[in-house]
Amino acid sequence: MKLKEMETHKQLTIGLFGFGVVGEGLYKVLQQTPSLKAGIKKICIKHPGKKRNAPESLFTTDKNELLGDPEINVIVEVIDDSEAAFEIVSTALQNNKDVVSASKKMIAEHLPELLGLQQSTGHSLLYEAAACASIPVIRNLEEYYDNDLLHSIKAIVNGSTNFILSKIFDEQLEFKQALLLAQQLGFAESDPKLDVEGYDAVNKWTFLLTHAYGITEEPGNILFTGIQNIQLEDAEVAKEKNYEIKLVAEAKKLKNGKVTAFVLPQFVKKDDHLAFVKNEYNGVVIESGFADKQFFYGKGAGSFPTASAVLSDIAALRYQYKYEYKKLYHHPPHKLSNDVFLRVYVSFDDWDNIPRERFEWIEEWHAQEERKYLIGVIAFNELKNNTWWKENNTSLILTPEPIIEDIEIRKLKKKSLELAGII
Ligand SMILES: NC(=O)c1ccc[n+]([C@@H]2O[C@H](COP(=O)([O-])OP(=O)(O)OC[C@H]3O[C@@H](n4cnc5c(N)ncnc54)[C@H](OP(=O)(O)O)[C@@H]3O)[C@@H](O)[C@H]2O)c1
Repeated sequence: MKLKEMETHKQLTIGLFGFGVVGEGLYKVLQQTPSLKAGIKKICIKHPGKKRNAPESLFTTDKNELLGDPEINVIVEVIDDSEAAFEIVSTALQNNKDVVSASKKMIAEHLPELLGLQQSTGHSLLYEAAACASIPVIRNLEEYYDNDLLHSIKAIVNGSTNFILSKIFDEQLEFKQALLLAQQLGFAESDPKLDVEGYDAVNKWTFLLTHAYGITEEPGNILFTGIQNIQLEDAEVAKEKNYEIKLVAEAKKLKNGKVTAFVLPQFVKKDDHLAFVKNEYNGVVIESGFADKQFFYGKGAGSFPTASAVLSDIAALRYQYKYEYKKLYHHPPHKLSNDVFLRVYVSFDDWDNIPRERFEWIEEWHAQEERKYLIGVIAFNELKNNTWWKENNTSLILTPEPIIEDIEIRKLKKKSLELAGII
């Protein structure tokens, strides 16, 4: 029986694209797991002159040596160029190969085409490493939460911004020093703007929303920003209120059955699971029907943690594992809704840059200090359709439990504040 089972395992011959932080990590990890019986036949890189810690005969700059080789049945794509990555991944699927990728930008930007290619070719495209690196979040959303009971998912999905925030707030490093350190340690994207301004986090959120709720949305259609505007004064307010500041990706099922989703800086209470997530670690809190809260925690970046997720995907290919996209194809997919309100903290230099009249109500304002701030409630669409809240040195941070969906309570509160002459 055992022998028969083993015979059904697919023999894996790998063509690897990329030999950077993740690619080299995978090469080393595979050498330490001979039991997997997966061997790298060829590695395609971009710059042939670089010194590599692997035999020279393995390397090529000709992608067709891998994509056109019928013996190679698995392409692992870990390069840092999303357009070239899409070309490689789509050709590989069309050429009868299964694919493992870590390129979140490529996956987020090309998800509809990639869904189509998986269906038309019948081949697997696995990308566990692309979100939260070492945490098996995608496979859990696909397999374990294969039901309609997922109430919310809240996560820290970007290791380098979390690393930078930890270094600034816990070790009082300057922003630039913290970013440099993240880059030196291999946590940051080659282009730091991708991390710092929230692009990387929203890219990951795009396809995590597909696995969690069957939502297929372009990253540009999701409300997001990064940590670029967070000021030292914000950290002081956070400390006063006993909060931490985190870049949080959140999605919540509303009473109307739709889902609201965003990636924004957020104050988190000290006893929130996400407050525990420091440095390059990632964390995911899932709230579901009967299980209540579950917390996943692990390294969200770095050579070996990311390679470990790639390795796990490669291992899954031995059993012809595929994502079924159950929430998309087997359940009625959820729709995104912007019809909610958010409770926000906004700090700024000049009142003139803040359209106060567009807030539903303002609960606190501190106008005396050099750096002013308010806490108030504002329509989601006001943020979605305008950019004043991230311009002119304005910093917006969500308060804990920021989503307000009950219209009646909202109206009543506004009315009472109006009557009191406050707004
Ligand atoms: N680093 C992490 O912690 C992490 C975590 C999760 C996901 N990822 C994702 O994994 C991917 C790789 O990241 P990384 O940090 O390993 O990047 P990296 O260290 O910058 O390495 C990139 C590699 O890609 C190669 N390359 C670039 N364009 C190519 C092309 N057209 N054809 C063949 N090779 C090409 C480069 O070749 P040369 O060596 O010749 O320059 C290099 O080996 C990215 O999509 C990233 O978003 C990274």
